[in-house]
This record gives sequence, C-alpha cells and structure tokens, in this order.
Amino acid sequence: MAVVRAAEIQRVAVAGAGTMGHGIARVAAQSGFEVRLFDGTPGVADAALEKIRSSLEEGVKRGKVSAREREETLSRLSAKSSLQESAAGAELVIEAIPERMELKELLFSELGRICSESALLGSNTSSLSLSRIARSTVHPERVVGLHFFNPPHRMKLLEVVRGEATSDAAVETALGVARKLGKDPIVVKDSPGFATSRLGVALGLEAMRMLEEGIAVVEDIDKAMELGYGHPMGPLRVSDLVGLDVRLSIAEALHRELGGSRFEPPQILRDKVRMGKLGKKSGAGFYPWEK
Ligand SMILES: NC(=O)c1ccc[n+]([C@@H]2O[C@H](COP(=O)([O-])OP(=O)(O)OC[C@H]3O[C@@H](n4cnc5c(N)ncnc54)[C@H](O)[C@@H]3O)[C@@H](O)[C@H]2O)c1
Repeated sequence: MAVVRAAEIQRVAVAGAGTMGHGIARVAAQSGFEVRLFDGTPGVADAALEKIRSSLEEGVKRGKVSAREREETLSRLSAKSSLQESAAGAELVIEAIPERMELKELLFSELGRICSESALLGSNTSSLSLSRIARSTVHPERVVGLHFFNPPHRMKLLEVVRGEATSDAAVETALGVARKLGKDPIVVKDSPGFATSRLGVALGLEAMRMLEEGIAVVEDIDKAMELGYGHPMGPLRVSDLVGLDVRLSIAEALHRELGGSRFEPPQILRDKVRMGKLGKKSGAGFYPWEK
C-alpha cells in the first residue's frame, strides 16, 4: 500500500512526551493536526498537556498567540494511556522516546502491528541508525527521520532523514508535513549524527575538552562562538539546553560508529551526568539554572 500523502494526514500520534515530544505535539496541534500524545511513564502525557496549556497562556499574555488559537490548539490535543490508543488510526506517528536503540526498535515493531500500512512513521532520533530502526517494523519504506530541534515550536529546521529503505514517496510526505508545520526542511542520508548532531556535538565536545584543559571559563568559551562567529548561543549553553545525558548518549553512539577519538565523551561530561547535573532540566549543568 502506498504511503499516505501529506494532504491526507489528519491524526498524528506522538510517542514520548518529554522535552521534545511535548513540543512536537504542540506545534502539530497548532498547525491543525489532531494530536494524541502518549508517554510510557504514567502521568507524563497529562503533565505535558498542562505544560503546553501554560505555555500557550503565556503566549496569549505576550500577544504572540490569539485566545482563539490557544483554544483550538488545546481542543486538538489529547493524552492517551497506551500506544495502541494513541497510534491506532493515526496517519502519522512521531516517535520521541529516549535515544536507545532497543527502545526504539521495540516501539517501531509495535507500531507495525498497530498502524495502517500506509501510515508514515517518523523518528526524532538525533544519532541512531534510521535504517536499523526501520528494519524493526513492517514496511520500512515508510519510515523517515523527522529530527526536530529544541524547542520544536520555535526552531525552523526539520532534518528529514532518508534511511536505506525509505521511499521517495515517504520523503515527499515528510517534506509536505514539514511545510504544514511551518518548518524549513533539509534532506540528509542516514549516517551517524546526520548533519546537525554531528556538527553540533563536535563543537560541544571540543568546548568541554577546552574547559577541562583550563583554556577558558565556561562563559568565555561560549562568548567566543557567540561574538566571534555570530552563534546565537555558545556550545556549552546549548549542551545544557539539550540535556547532558542526551548529549552523552549521542556522543557515545557517534564514537562507537565513527571510531577514532573525535567523539569520545570527555570525562567532565561523564562526571556531570553521573552527578545528575543534566543541564537546564535538572537545575544545573555547565551553568546553574533555576528549575
Ligand atoms: N532534547 C533535545 O534537545 C533533542 C533534540 C532533538 C532530538 N532529540 C531526540 O528526541 C528523542 C527524545 O529526547 P527527549 O530529550 O525528548 O527525551 P526525554 O527523556 O525528555 O523524553 C523521553 C520520554 O519518553 C518516555 N518514554 C520512554 N520509553 C517510552 C516508550 N516505550 N513509549 C513511550 N514513551 C516512552 C519517557 O518517559 C520520557 O518522558 C531522543 O531520540 C533524542 O535524541 C532530543
């Protein structure tokens, strides 16, 4: 069966309601899709809806979102307590669960049972092999990478990843969805870290190594890229926002797959993760953050 076309998509399931999943759900609902959010940890999807509600409320106060847009967006969003409830009947599923291959493979194999053969299955993976994820489900030709950036409702880029089995029609649908979400997409071949993580992580890890070597303090390393190269945010601050645990697992995956020492995680990153200093979400990382 041919993969769904972008114009035919109405119902979107989002699996994983953490940092990325809740933002993806918001942008999809704001763009007119009916969104069903599911998280494996009970209560997380409901909490995510609450977060979206208060963020929209904030938008209304600041004059960035109309009261009508807030109401319509919220009316299109629901939290579901199982993957089955969320994904059955959805024309598009976007997976945003932790960056662990075994979890993604399990989820995609379940999606193969639950979803129609024509549904487009997207993964928000930052670094794992899309081709391998796709092999865990039936009809791997409809599996694409839909790599959003944090926060998904603000960041314009969508990295559409083409796996070894991904069909042209699936890429076409993904590009149509991207445009409907107001995103500016790029298409990249499935390779470790794609374009964005590979470049972003390389810069972040080098900044951490410079910190370890005492080359400069955190703020000055960041300022070097902000003022010297016009980056809106330095690499250590970006790492704090992404989450140091997320950065560590991406670096480990790139190190494993690309070899050499380029992506070997610096000790300072391992230490911070071990101490629970995960960046903004935990209240501290390279910077102190208010929780
Ligand atoms: N954080 C970022 O800035 C960022 C940016 C782009 C892409 N990504 C990618 O997005 C994905 C999610 O990252 P995140 O930062 O949102 O992680 P997160 O830890 O904030 O959220 C993941 C959520 O998935 C839930 N979960 C775990 N197993 C599940 C399952 N089987 N079914 C449903 N829910 C499940 C967890 O309870 C958690 O709430 C990862 O692949 C990551 O690499 C992250």
